[in-house]
Amino acid sequence: MSSDISIIGLGLMGSALAGALLKAGHRVTVWNRSAAKAEPLAAQGAVVAATAAEAVGASPLVVVCVLDYAATRQSLEGADLTGRVVLNLTNGRPAEAREMSAWVTGQGGDYLDGGIMAVPQMIGAPGALVLYSGSRPAFERYEDTLAVLAEPRYLGADPGLAPLYDLAMLTGMYGQFAGFLSAAALIASEKRSVAEFTESLLVPWLHAMAAITPPMGAQIDAGDHATDVSNLEVNRVALTTLDAAFRDQGVKFDLLAPLKAVMERRVARGHGYEDMSGLAEELR
Ligand SMILES: NC(=O)c1ccc[n+]([C@@H]2O[C@H](COP(=O)([O-])OP(=O)(O)OC[C@H]3O[C@@H](n4cnc5c(N)ncnc54)[C@H](OP(=O)(O)O)[C@@H]3O)[C@@H](O)[C@H]2O)c1
Repeated sequence: MSSDISIIGLGLMGSALAGALLKAGHRVTVWNRSAAKAEPLAAQGAVVAATAAEAVGASPLVVVCVLDYAATRQSLEGADLTGRVVLNLTNGRPAEAREMSAWVTGQGGDYLDGGIMAVPQMIGAPGALVLYSGSRPAFERYEDTLAVLAEPRYLGADPGLAPLYDLAMLTGMYGQFAGFLSAAALIASEKRSVAEFTESLLVPWLHAMAAITPPMGAQIDAGDHATDVSNLEVNRVALTTLDAAFRDQGVKFDLLAPLKAVMERRVARGHGYEDMSGLAEELR
């Protein structure tokens, strides 16, 4: 084999991964469906394969970072995966990762799935994290190499774990954005500065509130939703006030309305004395 690592998929993320590995001194072979995206990497020393199968043949570690799992499968179809470690850094669902793992191992390869918790500009810099799951021997063999890209965190042998945790982290992020955007619209409704409000008041407040989520997580694990902080009924009333205030200000409550609806359902079922953590049970 002529290279250490092959990268299939040279979009924004795949190019960043290949660039960081080249910078660290690895011999890298690359392939992309549209050939032009390989040119900047060739200039940095990458070998450009003519086909995906040729890229697979070039290295023991094959990293795939394309649009979706269908594109991953399409790229690898027909390549000889025998003895290869396939690391799929494409975003997807746990079920897709498990299916891909079965397919790759059925072809004689070893499979690792990964969830990139970073944007391309963060690859190779402090603060980037990649979640891994699947073959432990494959992870241990390449852990040091992968550390060049981002802090590697191995979650377990079930290949579905990396996408599960990745999607859970995105869920937390989108929930935070929903709160931020609603708060911003409320502040903007009085023509006040959203930037100033966000920096001086909202971010410190969100930090303080984030600190109470690990104990809530422990309550969810234990199925014990007793509270001496604030109960669900108090929060239901707060959400009702918010809904009315948004209407007064001419701002849509659309992003938070589902939270209010789930709270109302939980309280109606007799759980108003419990902690907010009980809502996680209402969602299952
Ligand atoms: N960008 C980020 O911030 C970020 C962060 C975390 C995770 N990710 C994940 O990384 C993956 C790639 O994202 P990206 O930002 O690099 O996207 P991108 O810039 O749009 O690149 C998409 C890549 O997929 C390839 N592709 C699409 N369909 C294909 C097919 N049928 N066969 C072969 N190749 C195909 C494209 O090839 P062509 O060039 O030929 O179109 C291109 O190389 C996604 O799963 C994304 O969710 C991205």
